[in-house]
Amino acid sequence: MPVIYDVSMRILSGIQPSGTMHIGNYLGAVKQWVDSQNPEAYYCVVDLHALTLEIEPAALREQTTDCVASLLAAGLDPEVCTLFIQSHVPFHAQLSWLLECVSSYGELSRMTQFKEKADRQEGYRVGLLTYPVLMAADILLYSAQQVPVGDDQRQHLELTRNVAERFNNRYGEIFTIPEGVHPPAAARVMDLQEPSRKMSKSISSPLGSIYVLDEPAEIEKKIKKAVTDTENEVRFDWETKPGLSNLLEIFSSFEGSSPEVIASRYTGYGALKSDLATLVIESLAPIAERYRELRSDPTAINAVVLHGDDKAAQVAGPVYRRAAAAMGLI
Ligand code: TYM
Repeated sequence: MPVIYDVSMRILSGIQPSGTMHIGNYLGAVKQWVDSQNPEAYYCVVDLHALTLEIEPAALREQTTDCVASLLAAGLDPEVCTLFIQSHVPFHAQLSWLLECVSSYGELSRMTQFKEKADRQEGYRVGLLTYPVLMAADILLYSAQQVPVGDDQRQHLELTRNVAERFNNRYGEIFTIPEGVHPPAAARVMDLQEPSRKMSKSISSPLGSIYVLDEPAEIEKKIKKAVTDTENEVRFDWETKPGLSNLLEIFSSFEGSSPEVIASRYTGYGALKSDLATLVIESLAPIAERYRELRSDPTAINAVVLHGDDKAAQVAGPVYRRAAAAMGLI
C-alpha cells in the first residue's frame, strides 16, 4: 500500500458526534488520522454540524464526549496532534458567515448529501443547506493542505476549494487551497445488507453497520449475514459482486494487502467471512477496551479537549482576522 500522507503537511479533518463510530468512519477517515498524526494535524469533533439534523441536547452532550473518547481510543495522541471541539473555537461559525457571503444558493443546493437528506424530511433546517460552508470554514481556518476523509466528502471538498479560490481572487490570497486525501481501500464502506448504499450513522439496516464498540458476537453475526451473491467465486469486482467486494475492501484495509491478493487466497465465501470476522474482532477489541477505560473519566477527556481548543484557537484566530479584514470589516 502506498504511503499517502506527508506528515510535514498541515492537516485538518472532522467527524460529527451524531452516533457511534462505525467502521466506515474508522477505515475511511479515523485510521488515516491516526497514521498521519503530527504536530501540524488538527482533528475536530464537529458538534455544530450535528445540529443540522434533529438531535436531543442531552444526546449531543453525551455523544460529543463519546466521540472524543473514541478518537483517543482509536489512537489519536493529544501530545502529538491537536484534538478539539468545533463549537469551542468560535472562529468556525464566524468564518462560516463570511464564506456564506461568497457562496451561492445554487452551488449549495446542488450538493448530493444536501439533496439526499433534505428529501427525507419536511422543513429541513437552513443549516443543512449551508453545512458545506461551515465545513469549508473548518478547513480554511487551519490553512490545511491535506484533508483525510472518506469518499463521500469529495464534493464538499471541491466546494471548499472553489469557495477558497473565489475568496482569494476577490479579496486577496488569504486561504490555502486544500487537497482531499482518501485511503486506498475502504474509502467508501458500504452497508453490509445493502451494498449499494454507504454505511451510515443516520440510516442503517440493523445488521448493515459494524460499530467500533460492537461486541465480538455481533461483529461475527453481521459479517456472516452480510449480503453477497449466489455464485461462490471469490473475485474482487464491484460491478458484479458489490457485497463481496465491500468485504474484501474492509479486509484489505484492516490487513494491508490488496483486495485482489486477499481474494486469491479463498475458494469460498464461508472461510473468507470467518477470517474477516476474526480480523475485525481482533483489530477492534483493543479500541473498545481503551474506550471503556477512557470514557469512565470524563474529567480527563475534558482536559484533553480544553488543551486542544486553545491550540486550535491560536491558529484559527489570526486566519479569521485576516479574512475579516480583507473583506472590509474593521
Ligand atoms: P461524518 O461525521 O459523516 O464522517 C466522518 C468521516 O468518516 C467518513 N465516512 C466514511 N468513510 C468510508 N465509508 C463510509 N461509509 C463512511 N461514512 C463516513 C467521512 O468521509 C468522514 O471523513 N462533513 C463531515 C465532517 C466534517 C469535516 C470537516 C471533515 C466537518 N468539517 C472538515 C473534514 C474536514 C461529515 O459529516 O463526516
